[in-house]
Amino acid sequence: KSSRCKAFRSAILHLLGDPGHDFPPQQQVEYLEDGVLVVENGHITQIGSADSLLGQLPADCELETFPDQLIIPGLIDTHIHYPQTDMIAAYGEQLLEWLETYTFPTEKQFSDSALAREVADFFLDELLRNGTTTALVFGTVHPASVEAFFSAAEARKLRMIAGKVMMDRNCPSDLQDTPESSYQESKALIEKWHKRGRLLYAVTPRFAPTSSSEQLTKAGQLLREYPDTYLHTHVAENPAEVAWVRELFPTSRSYLDVYQQHGLLQPRSVLAHCLHLDDTDKQCMAESGAAAAFCPSSNLFIGSGLFDLHAAKTWGMRVGLGTDVGAGTSFSLLQTFADAYKTTQLLGNKLSPYQGLYLATLGGAEALYLDDKIGNLVPGKEADFVVLNFRGTPLLERRLQHCHSIHDKLFALMMLGDDRSVAATYILGERCK
Ligand code: GUN
Ligand code: ZN
Repeated sequence: KSSRCKAFRSAILHLLGDPGHDFPPQQQVEYLEDGVLVVENGHITQIGSADSLLGQLPADCELETFPDQLIIPGLIDTHIHYPQTDMIAAYGEQLLEWLETYTFPTEKQFSDSALAREVADFFLDELLRNGTTTALVFGTVHPASVEAFFSAAEARKLRMIAGKVMMDRNCPSDLQDTPESSYQESKALIEKWHKRGRLLYAVTPRFAPTSSSEQLTKAGQLLREYPDTYLHTHVAENPAEVAWVRELFPTSRSYLDVYQQHGLLQPRSVLAHCLHLDDTDKQCMAESGAAAAFCPSSNLFIGSGLFDLHAAKTWGMRVGLGTDVGAGTSFSLLQTFADAYKTTQLLGNKLSPYQGLYLATLGGAEALYLDDKIGNLVPGKEADFVVLNFRGTPLLERRLQHCHSIHDKLFALMMLGDDRSVAATYILGERCK
């Protein structure tokens, strides 16, 4: 029986705004030690203390209680590749050799839609096991890969954004499209899937080295014809890649400028990495309304470099957190926070657990311009949330006995936690994990 009204009683933590780098944080962090979240028809209708809300729930409202657990908003992964699930943790190479050696051969298999669907199903279940409820996702060059992904996401009622890779040069010939075919195939996918239920489309040129100027122009044309679609690509990840782009586009001021010159930087543009940007580029990112996807696990694993989060925030850039699986080595945004924290330490800065939770929830929603729908637990938003278990591992259970504030508990949970810390994941108020 699916009751229209459901209430969930637990400790609850979410962000109402960017907590910045201050400690203690001010009013942007809402923590309810004994809270209640009320959901009707898949949307949040009330949040507050058990004291204030329990007495006034509708009589037919089902109540579920989670002792010793913590409800947080569904996690948002702003950059990930579903076709790279089966090549995660591939040994020994940096970006350009890693693409040639592992990525392109793996992605070739996605011309097979049965294989694509099987991988998409596994991938989405793995996201949910890790508490990720929304992601911005690369497909492959094959339209069938995106069909399979959207079908699998629709079956789970997930809010997902994805797109077909556009690439017409500098890759194996059986993975190449053309400016015209990439335009037509992307257009057909947009017509079919964009805004169907909770699904959204991202125009997805892989990165400047694998697209001709003509193809990037076509990508810009799609964005103008469908103004509420996304642009999803990579920029300035690796020094050899940056040098290659300088040769391929000699008239562009910088790698980022290649995208700017083709009309690809705007609100809802998400650029993964942004490691090697100068101040002009950073200002351009901030002013355009585009967002950076900070992918620390990937940046460390394939040896790309360190993202300067403090500088990005100081310039006013929108920033989300991305796992970048398969260059990233974990589906968990908790583990990804741990890598982000270590990255900021190497740069002499701090990353508070509140700032980390913000990046993985409301900050990601703001990067994707979806903060009217997801990102925190205020009334009116879609009821995607996660129940974290404070006793997910023996070590965490032990460590948390020595934490006396929610700040310290959250930090330990994010540094040491992973899929074992996710007790349940809810989509539109329904348990799906
Ligand atoms: N740059 C172009 N393609 C890719 C990719 O698949 N992964 C990463 N990390 N960087 C890229
Ligand atoms: Zn990537």
